[in-house]
Amino acid sequence: MNAPVVRYLTGITTTGTPHLGNYVGAIRPTVQASRRPGTQNFYFLADYHALIKCDEPARIQRSTLEIAACWLAAGLDPEQVYFYRQSDIPEIPELTWFLTCVTGKGLLNRAHAYKAQVDKNAAANVDPDTDVTAGLFMYPVLMAADIVLFNAHKVPVGRDQVQHLEMARDMASSFNHLYGEHFTLPEAQVDETVATLPGLDGRKMSKSYDNVIALFGPREQMRKQIFSIVTDSRAPGEPKAVEGSALFQVYQAFADEAETAALRKAYAEGIAWADAKQLLFERIDREIAPMRQRYEELVNDPAQLERILKGGADKARAIATPFLGRLRHAVGLRNLAAQPQSTAKAKAKTALPSFKQYREADGRHYFKFVDAGGALLLQSVGFDSPQDAGRAVARLKQEGLAAASGAAAPAKGVSPAQVQAALAQLAAG
Ligand code: TRP
Repeated sequence: MNAPVVRYLTGITTTGTPHLGNYVGAIRPTVQASRRPGTQNFYFLADYHALIKCDEPARIQRSTLEIAACWLAAGLDPEQVYFYRQSDIPEIPELTWFLTCVTGKGLLNRAHAYKAQVDKNAAANVDPDTDVTAGLFMYPVLMAADIVLFNAHKVPVGRDQVQHLEMARDMASSFNHLYGEHFTLPEAQVDETVATLPGLDGRKMSKSYDNVIALFGPREQMRKQIFSIVTDSRAPGEPKAVEGSALFQVYQAFADEAETAALRKAYAEGIAWADAKQLLFERIDREIAPMRQRYEELVNDPAQLERILKGGADKARAIATPFLGRLRHAVGLRNLAAQPQSTAKAKAKTALPSFKQYREADGRHYFKFVDAGGALLLQSVGFDSPQDAGRAVARLKQEGLAAASGAAAPAKGVSPAQVQAALAQLAAG
């Protein structure tokens, strides 16, 4: 008996250069998790989300490149997972609208990120809407669409995102309630064993505190940054405390148990801070150095990254496009020529478009796609075997008309949109 597949999904907003905190908190755990058997993993670059807080186009482009390269350099295998860029999936903004229409404004009023800005405005005695874009307000809906489009079960995130997952569940259940059970209700997965890395000054490592250690900067830069981690003034030979030591915590995030125990002992025995820093640098470098070359290769070959991401988007859309076809149908965005379900229940079985496979006198295998009334929509080329023709049909059903190229073309007078609508209708049927 096979256990059912568990789908994991998470995204990283593309506004900054990846640092050690991102690596330990998001990149490394997702790469490890992606290798678990019995899981499907959807990892994406949340560039639509980036627009909410960043209006510098070049920065968004660069960040998308760097985060993608970082994920791959850390060992993510795009063949094993769904690895894509949010803005390559037009089904996401479309689903965002469907969810928007079933989401109470009051629900969004309660979102932490939005409320924080409103509170800040109140404290500053300015209009409550100051610096609040509709994008910030809608952020949780976009995020819900990311998640439920792929019916993810589990969403690995930081604590700060848990509320967004609750909202995603709310939106998904509202939709299900109105239109039928289309969505799985997702759950946040906050992994307590994943370290929150302290930064150079001991506060949480974060771009906004300007206390980060760059992940794939030059080796010398990493050394310098590590040597600038704040320590106390204890002299060499004086015992040192591991509690509250940022240096120790960072070390722990990279070291195994024996290594950690050894450093704990060295602290007690009065290791000099400079020696401890050197040890930390070497330990991190041991893990990062082998990835650095791949990172640089990728960052310097954006066309390669672009191809990988486009390939990932195709794979993701093979799921998203037919699913959205069903959702469109569910909400009533339908082919007008198709019978409304309520009046045509009995006929429903016969009133669907269909594929027909056949063999011609030339010995080759063909298929055609006809509408509910039997009118020709799509005509295939000849295939060597019925299996080849069957595979082309399967791809059309899965991926929509995009898969027709070279295999089939719309009949005379039939528009691609008509074919696409019929495919969606069949998928929804
Ligand atoms: N909002 C997340 C963050 O800032 C990024 C994100 C966007 C995300 N869409 C998502 C995370 C979907 C998980 C699932 O960290």
